[in-house]
Amino acid sequence: MRTELLDFLGSLHPLVVHLPIGIILLTIAIDVFMRNKNNSVKRVITMGWFFSFLSGLFAAIFGWFLGDNGYYFEEQINIHRWSGVALVFLCFVIWLLLYLNFRFNRSFTRSINITAIILLMVTGHFGGEMTHGQNYLFENLPYVKKEISVTPLTEVERSEIDSLYVFEDLIYPVLEEKCMACHNKNRAYGGLNMNTFESMMEGGNSGVGILKNKPYESLIYKRISFPHDHPKFMPPAGVPMSYDQIATLEWWIDKGAKKLMPISLARKDAKMQRLMEILYKLDLREKSYLETLKLPALSSDDLNGLNGEKYIWRFLNAEESFLDVKFTAKTIQKVDLLKMQKVKENVTWLNLADCMLSDELLSDISSFPNLTRLKIQKNPLVTDKGIKALLGMENLSELNLYGTRVTDAAFTTLGQMTALKKLFLWNTRVTAAGIEAFKAQHPEIEVIAGL
Ligand code: HEC
Repeated sequence: MRTELLDFLGSLHPLVVHLPIGIILLTIAIDVFMRNKNNSVKRVITMGWFFSFLSGLFAAIFGWFLGDNGYYFEEQINIHRWSGVALVFLCFVIWLLLYLNFRFNRSFTRSINITAIILLMVTGHFGGEMTHGQNYLFENLPYVKKEISVTPLTEVERSEIDSLYVFEDLIYPVLEEKCMACHNKNRAYGGLNMNTFESMMEGGNSGVGILKNKPYESLIYKRISFPHDHPKFMPPAGVPMSYDQIATLEWWIDKGAKKLMPISLARKDAKMQRLMEILYKLDLREKSYLETLKLPALSSDDLNGLNGEKYIWRFLNAEESFLDVKFTAKTIQKVDLLKMQKVKENVTWLNLADCMLSDELLSDISSFPNLTRLKIQKNPLVTDKGIKALLGMENLSELNLYGTRVTDAAFTTLGQMTALKKLFLWNTRVTAAGIEAFKAQHPEIEVIAGL
């Protein structure tokens, strides 16, 4: 009951302070502008300082209660508190001297007026900062560019999305900025220490801080999502948590509040994925192999081997480092493959259709490390033996074997090719049963086998 009354009186402080501010300014204005000071003017000025003192005294007492509730930072409150006290004291002294009929000369009057105004500005400034946040006025000036950081992540961290954790990288830095000044191991208001994951989960005097899977029953979540003017709203001073920060915390608790929950889990949740992309500038799309591959651009020198009628080629990317090559002659020889040696890292698509390709030459192609699409259709000399040689091609995702002589035996090799997504098997010697069995084992691979 007693503390409730004090809290109530404390909450009057922000209202009552405006009274002494007005009276002090008015009193000084009268003093400055009423040159001709007859007795009534003098009495008004004396009275002005008295009411400045009286209203200031109330404001200071209420302010003391407000400051004592622990909702403000000591460092922030001190200057405000003591300059306020000094101002009230000054008003009292001025009133007393005037009341006792001391005669002030002009320069003395001017210096006490200036001192009062300075104290008023200092007190008002630090008080305003506590209620409205730092830079409140500045941020609201027109034409001032506002820099608002959206994410605690650096550029580098953002690029390594797979090694980022929701708690450590998104939540902890925010709590550190907004809560830990009052909730740390030395000063734990409400008994809550948020310095470590464990102590935060454990909570404070009212019990558990975070209930796994239950955001709306977790005390920490509740206190940050109250209306801002709720007496239990956290943080009580300073800038509140933003929508994305609260949504991230909610999602994290909902998913089990694990210390090591990877950010990439947001891929499973359309809303969170969008939030990560837009608010945290994180790119959560799964990258294809080629998107992660960086190769230097090719010079015309490198491409010399591909000149002539046997090859058609084009670049697949703007950086001119990935090649799509098609062999157009009727028969291919070892020397034709050798000409591609120089650019074999850059050949990402290769078309060797209908050129009497043999198993032996096919095995040379397995040394093209970045090949993702290979077309060797209509080559009747290609058999299971040639396919076996492709086993090491870890990035091959599309393979066209239409019109070759492969049989069901090739499935053993094909099933082990980790990147394979699409397979053409028309007009080969594989059986329908073989295809069915393969599809059942590898549902991730699309098999196109004709009718
Ligand atoms: C300026 C100081 C200050 C800041 C900053 C602050 N708190 Fe508090 N917090 C307090 C005080 C004082 C109490 C105890 C009185 C109360 O429960 O309202 C408290 C109590 C709590 C409690 C209740 C603990 C219990 O078990 O009773 C929770 C939860 C809490 N704060 C969460 C937060 C979170 C989350 C943040 C950051 C977003 C935060 N606080 C920032 C001062 C602060």
